[in-house]
Amino acid sequence: MKNIENQILVIFGASGDLTVRKLIPALFHLFKGGFLPENFIVLGTSRTNLTDEEFRNKVIFESDFLINDGKQESNILVENFAQKFFYHDLGGNYENSYLTLKEKLIELSSKYQIPNNYIFYLSTPPSLYKIIARNLRDQNLNTNNEGWKRLVVEKPFGYDLATAKDLNAGLLECFSENQIYRIDHYLGKETVQNVLVTRFSNSIFEPLWNRNFISRVEITNAEQEGVGSRGGYYDGSGAFRDMFQNHLMQIVSLIAMEPPYRIDADAIRDEKLKVLRCLRQWTPETIKSNTVRGQYISSKILGKQVKGYLEEEGVSKSSKTETFAAVKFFFDNWRWENVPFYVRTGKRLPAKVTEVVIHFKASPKNLFDRNQESNKLIIRIQPNEGIVLNFGMKLPGQGFKVENVDMDFNYSDLSDTNVPEAYERLLLDVMQGDATLYALGDEVEEAWAFVDPILETWKNDTSVEVHQYAAGSWGPEAANELMKKHKWRTPSKNLTNDDLYCEL
Ligand code: BG6
Repeated sequence: MKNIENQILVIFGASGDLTVRKLIPALFHLFKGGFLPENFIVLGTSRTNLTDEEFRNKVIFESDFLINDGKQESNILVENFAQKFFYHDLGGNYENSYLTLKEKLIELSSKYQIPNNYIFYLSTPPSLYKIIARNLRDQNLNTNNEGWKRLVVEKPFGYDLATAKDLNAGLLECFSENQIYRIDHYLGKETVQNVLVTRFSNSIFEPLWNRNFISRVEITNAEQEGVGSRGGYYDGSGAFRDMFQNHLMQIVSLIAMEPPYRIDADAIRDEKLKVLRCLRQWTPETIKSNTVRGQYISSKILGKQVKGYLEEEGVSKSSKTETFAAVKFFFDNWRWENVPFYVRTGKRLPAKVTEVVIHFKASPKNLFDRNQESNKLIIRIQPNEGIVLNFGMKLPGQGFKVENVDMDFNYSDLSDTNVPEAYERLLLDVMQGDATLYALGDEVEEAWAFVDPILETWKNDTSVEVHQYAAGSWGPEAANELMKKHKWRTPSKNLTNDDLYCEL
């Protein structure tokens, strides 16, 4: 691990949900593990007027998300952690001058002997990103003088290609690309990182990783939950913007990219960008036959009636926003020519699961009357993280009866290994100045360039249906038709079937 310099983490939007739910628990785990530098401070800031004490109570002592961790720990440990937290009130408005914020930082830096190494973490609505960046620049809090400055932004990075470009340009007026860390929490997941290791540290997979041996790639991202209390946000976003443009495109690019010349931020991100540039662009005509959107309707799950999307709080009654999306696409490059990639994502599906399935081509001759589609490599991103290789074996006895068997590895088998939460890894990386697991601005724009025409067609072409699917099912039937002669792999049993509880 690289040396972590003393530093201050400034969280904008510090009284918000993400801070309490994700950032503080991740920081607590890092603190417990001894990963934080000796002189380290978290300065929370937002429009709310809080004292340091009130801030500590809200995000630490009274936090439901820390309570379980905290209960197992001595009060001293939690108290010591809390002593690192301070609060600064921005005076009710993010647009005010940040002079007092700068003064507070200088005061804390000198009191706790911390050089001017600052991370500015924007956990605010994206509409504030440019405003905050500009205000920081106006106070010279963007320069690497007497200490480095880093800016972390959360998704969504724009609403479409035009707004993503505008956002990138606005941030780049104030900070340089190598100071900007665009966080995508899927890149912090252990199994997503393991895609790189699986592919590039094993000589057995990479020779097969191309159009000659792979027939198709399939990715499923399913959630059991509906939109819950986020209907207001989600209705303006939809599954394609919320999951596909960012998290799933990141997974796709790791699966499809060429080997980087070394493992560092520039080399890996350049390869991801390069492969995204090879995406075959769909036209309005081809979009209709290669994409499917759906919306869940009310249904019974385990005997309990759950709401349909249109009944959710904050959702327009006539909404056409998709809660399910499936898409088929190709990379026009040497490695992947004519290999279809299928990706589906949805809410209110039977299970919470994300997995990548690499389907290998059948052997050239079917000597043993075996199901010709059976060699698969399954990369389980979550839950029960692991990898399964599926292949044919002879059943003992007369003749040559072939059975499909699995060879698997589960992370849980590594008994001493604690799989860190995505935010722990990502926070530690930005503290060390390692941007490998953060998205480049160009990468984000390239993903939008693919997604934009699809969203445009869905919006403008009234003949594109919003297929309904029952909550708790695997999405609309139309998604199966995308695959034609193949079927999506079902990672679990159907939850709508009351007595067959879905156990992954
Ligand atoms: C977020 C989306 O980025 O990712 C949510 O906005 C989604 O809608 C979440 O539920 C899924 O993340 P995870 O880590 O639970 O799979």
